[in-house]
Amino acid sequence: MLPRLQNRVPPPLLCPSYTGRPTARRLEVTLTDDVLIVHGGTPLQGQIRVRGAKNLVSKAMVAALLGETPSHLYDVPGIRDVEVVRGLLELHGVKVSDGVEDGELVMDPTNVESASTDEINVHAGSSRIPILLCGPLLHRLGHAFIPDLGGCHIGPRPIDFHIRSLREFGAVVDKTPEGMHLSAPNGLHGAKLELPYPSVGATEQVLLTAVRAEGVTELRNAAIEPEIMDLICILQKMGAIITVHTDRVIEIQGVPRLTGYEHKPIPDRIEAASWAAAALATRGEIEVVGARQADMMTFLNVFRSIGGELKITDDRIARPGVTGAEGGIKFWHPGGELKAVALETDVHPGFMTDWQQPLVVALTQARGISIMHETVYEQRLGYTDALNSMGATIQVYRDCLGGTPCRFGRRNFMHSAVIAGPSKLHAADLVIPDLRAGFAHLIAALAAEGTSRVYGVNLIERGYEDFEAKLAALGAHVERP
Ligand code: EPU
Repeated sequence: MLPRLQNRVPPPLLCPSYTGRPTARRLEVTLTDDVLIVHGGTPLQGQIRVRGAKNLVSKAMVAALLGETPSHLYDVPGIRDVEVVRGLLELHGVKVSDGVEDGELVMDPTNVESASTDEINVHAGSSRIPILLCGPLLHRLGHAFIPDLGGCHIGPRPIDFHIRSLREFGAVVDKTPEGMHLSAPNGLHGAKLELPYPSVGATEQVLLTAVRAEGVTELRNAAIEPEIMDLICILQKMGAIITVHTDRVIEIQGVPRLTGYEHKPIPDRIEAASWAAAALATRGEIEVVGARQADMMTFLNVFRSIGGELKITDDRIARPGVTGAEGGIKFWHPGGELKAVALETDVHPGFMTDWQQPLVVALTQARGISIMHETVYEQRLGYTDALNSMGATIQVYRDCLGGTPCRFGRRNFMHSAVIAGPSKLHAADLVIPDLRAGFAHLIAALAAEGTSRVYGVNLIERGYEDFEAKLAALGAHVERP
C-alpha cells in the first residue's frame, strides 16, 4: 500500500519566501510541529532505495486522465505532490485506489466530470502540476479551470509558454483573479510550435494536449529530460504516435482515443543525487538502490571530478540484501580532500538545476574555489546565506560566471556562486526555503559539528519519500522535539 500523508498535520501550502536567516514571522509559521533536531558530525552510512521520479509520476497521473480505461502506475512514492494530483484527479471523477503491489496506484478515468471552482481552488498554491490538466480536461470535458499555481519560489516561474501553446491548439484562455478558465469551442487541432526555451513543463503541456488534438503537431526546442522521454513512453503505451527527432524536435500525430497504461516510472535521479551529495558532505557511504546510471551520467562525472567514489550495479545482477536484483549506485567519500570544480546548471543533458543545492554543500568541503553558474532559474542561490551562517564562504554574483548562454546575465539576478573551501561547518538554526534547498540545509546540518534545528521540514516531504526513516537507516542522529 502507498504510504498516505493525510493523517499528518496539514503543512503550509506555499513555500515561505526566502530572505536569508530565520525571521520571527517565518519561525512563527513553522515552529509548532515542523522542526527536526539534527545532531551533526556523523558520516551517513548504509543503503536506501529511491522510487519513481517525482517529476514523472505526477505527470503520469495527469496522463491517466486521457485514457478511456484504467491505468496502473507502479513504484509511486508517498510524497505530497502525489497526494495533490490524486486529489485533483478525484475531484474530476477519476477513481484512484491503491493497487495490490506496494506503491501501485490504479486510476480509473471512465467517468470524468466537472468539478466546481471552489473545490479545485482548495488546491491553489499547492503545486505546479495543475497547469498540466489543461489539455486532458479540454479533451475530456471541453472546458477546464486551473487554480493559482504553487511550487517553490526559485524565480518568477511564468506560464507564458503554456498559454501561448494552448492558444495555438485552439484553446480560449481566460485569466481571472480566481484562476484560469479554458474552453475549446472548435476543438483542439495540431499546431507548429517553437518554445523560446526548452521548458520541461511547457513540453509536457504540448505532449498532453497534442496526443488527442486533430492533426499533426510539431514542437521545436522541446525539453528532452529523461522524465519527458518516460512520459512519451507512457503516452505511446496509451496509443499515441510520437516521434522524437534530433535537435529537440518532437512530432505528435493526434489520435481520436487513448487507453490506459501500465508503467513503472524511471527512478528519481534528483533524490539519488541528493543522497550522493549527502554521502560526500558527511564523509560517508550511501548505496542508493534503484538509482540508474543512464539518467545520471552528468552528475556521476561531476561527483567523480570532485573526488567522490562510486560503484554502479546494473539491474538483473543479484546482490545480497537487495530484492529482485535491482540495480543501484553506491557513493562514498574516499577520505582525504575533495577537489573544487566549476559548474553550470543547464537543461538535459547538462547538469540539472535540482542537483545544484545539495552538491554545493559538498563543495563547501572541497579545497579551492568552486564556481556554480545557475542558468535555469533566476533565484536559486538564496539558500547560500544559510550555509554562510554555518561557516561556509560563498559569495553570490549577478554576473554569468561560465560560458553557457544565460537569460539572466543582464537582468540583475544573483545567479552565480563562488564557493571557497574547505570550511568547517558549525550547527545553526535554519528555516527551509524550498524543496531542494531544504534538503541542502539538512545535509549541511548533518555535516556540521553540533546540534542544529531545521524548521519547515514538511517542505522536504513534497519530494523525498520517508526521508526521516531513510536518515535513521543511514545512522543519522535526528529527532523531533
Ligand atoms: N519558463 C518560462 N515560461 C514558461 C515556462 C517556463 O519562462 O511558460 C522558464 C522558467 O521560469 C524557468 C525555465 O523556463 O526559468 C525552466 O522551467 P521549466 O518549465 O523547465 O520548469 P518546470 O516544468 O516548472 C520542472 C520541475 C522542476 C525542475 C525544472 C527544470 C516539475 C514538477 N518540476 O519544472 O523541479 O527544476 O523542471 O528541470 O517537474 C523540483 O523538483 O524541485 C523542481 C523545481
